[in-house]
Amino acid sequence: MRLVVVSNRVTIPDRYEKATAGGLAVALREALEKYGGLWFGWSGAVGEDTRQVQRGNVTYAVTDLTEAERQSYYLGFSNRALWPIMHYRLGLTEFQRSDYMGYLGVNRRFARALAGLIQPDDVIWIHDYHLIPLAAELRRRGVTNRIGYFHHIPWPSADVLGALPFSATLVRTLAAYDLIGMQTELDVRNLIGGLVDLCGARQEGRRVRLGARETLMQAFPIGIDVEAFRRLAAASVRRAVTPLRATRESLGERKLVIGVDRLDYSKGIVQRLEAFGQFLLSHPEQRGNVSLLQIAPPSRSDVPEYAELDRMSDEVAGRLNAQLGEFDWTPIRVVKKAYSRTALAGFYRRAQVGLVTPMRDGMNLVAKEYVAAQDPADPGVLVLSRFAGAAQQMGEALIVNPYDTHEVAEAIRTALAMPKSERIRRFEQLYHVIETTDIDWWRRRYLEALTGVPLSTGAVEPP
Ligand code: G6P
Repeated sequence: MRLVVVSNRVTIPDRYEKATAGGLAVALREALEKYGGLWFGWSGAVGEDTRQVQRGNVTYAVTDLTEAERQSYYLGFSNRALWPIMHYRLGLTEFQRSDYMGYLGVNRRFARALAGLIQPDDVIWIHDYHLIPLAAELRRRGVTNRIGYFHHIPWPSADVLGALPFSATLVRTLAAYDLIGMQTELDVRNLIGGLVDLCGARQEGRRVRLGARETLMQAFPIGIDVEAFRRLAAASVRRAVTPLRATRESLGERKLVIGVDRLDYSKGIVQRLEAFGQFLLSHPEQRGNVSLLQIAPPSRSDVPEYAELDRMSDEVAGRLNAQLGEFDWTPIRVVKKAYSRTALAGFYRRAQVGLVTPMRDGMNLVAKEYVAAQDPADPGVLVLSRFAGAAQQMGEALIVNPYDTHEVAEAIRTALAMPKSERIRRFEQLYHVIETTDIDWWRRRYLEALTGVPLSTGAVEPP
């Protein structure tokens, strides 16, 4: 078989890839190198270019989006309608018919381009919410290969998703897939509920029958390359990476609490800053002893809700620093830029507490990276939102409700005061979990399921 991966963003590897590529990109690339294959998607650029680049036995086929497509398909329907509603944020969901038309248009265009590149034995693996109707469009063009979908973000219940205009039509297109992978069991239950309630599908265990087709739904919690990240963290300490050296100088013996997230409202950054402020207000003896470093590289800044979050996080951090800071101590530092993975690994290892408190998250790999980066002899403590998919596996973290500022504040205090023996016990259990369900395990399980699933041959209705 040959593997075909499709995702909205495709980064063609260059010689600097080791320093910048995240776990998922590397894992998919490794799978492609193993089977030989094709990676298809958006180049990330606006223009009219399509091109193919060969790297070893992998072809990267990328296409630009026009500015109108970027606005409607990417910024509009994907990130102002689907993203908020999938994260249970009905109040932030902005629907425009023209955006939905643009979304369908790009999926149709991608299907047209991709159909010409597919060979009879190819197994096709499509990723994430930008591309939900892609398989239906491929089927319309006569593609009969196995097609799998993996949804990287949460899937809400039918009564939430049902508020989105055309959601039933969109969800119905999922019947074109042979296998649908979700992050958690809850997502699978919600998805099946949606297919049954919104589209009248019939459920038989994990299989869903819609019209003439049958699709298998299953949870595949995504992982990280634990061993590689552990090595990166150990090396960053030995090599004293520049930002870490500076941190050491500016923090001295002070404790460090760390948050690392794209600047996205689903991540609960503002609520987290408030919780840290609350912790300092309730425990004045801790002032001057600990700082919060929030690394938050900007994301989707053209979307108004993201620009608003950018402003709000500055405002809250500024207010708390003015209220609580001292001439020689800054309680909160928000750094809005991306760091190399080596530097991040070093920051995680230096931090006594990892604060991972999204309001809702598909999995959250920062939780796993934080654990992988710890010193086993003196590990830090993970504080984790119960609404991150990772909480289903990582019960030995301090599990919190991010909507409850006091609870998060108390978890920070508990984490900072936790005896070493308990930290080690929790760390060992968490490490065991992430090591046995790492990115390799995820990819293998998914591809085994996809290649093993009985093929369904019925026709699919177009969106
Ligand atoms: C999430 C999504 C990915 C997306 C990433 C970055 O993790 O699941 O599909 O690529 O965010 O967002 P961006 O809009 O910059 O691609």
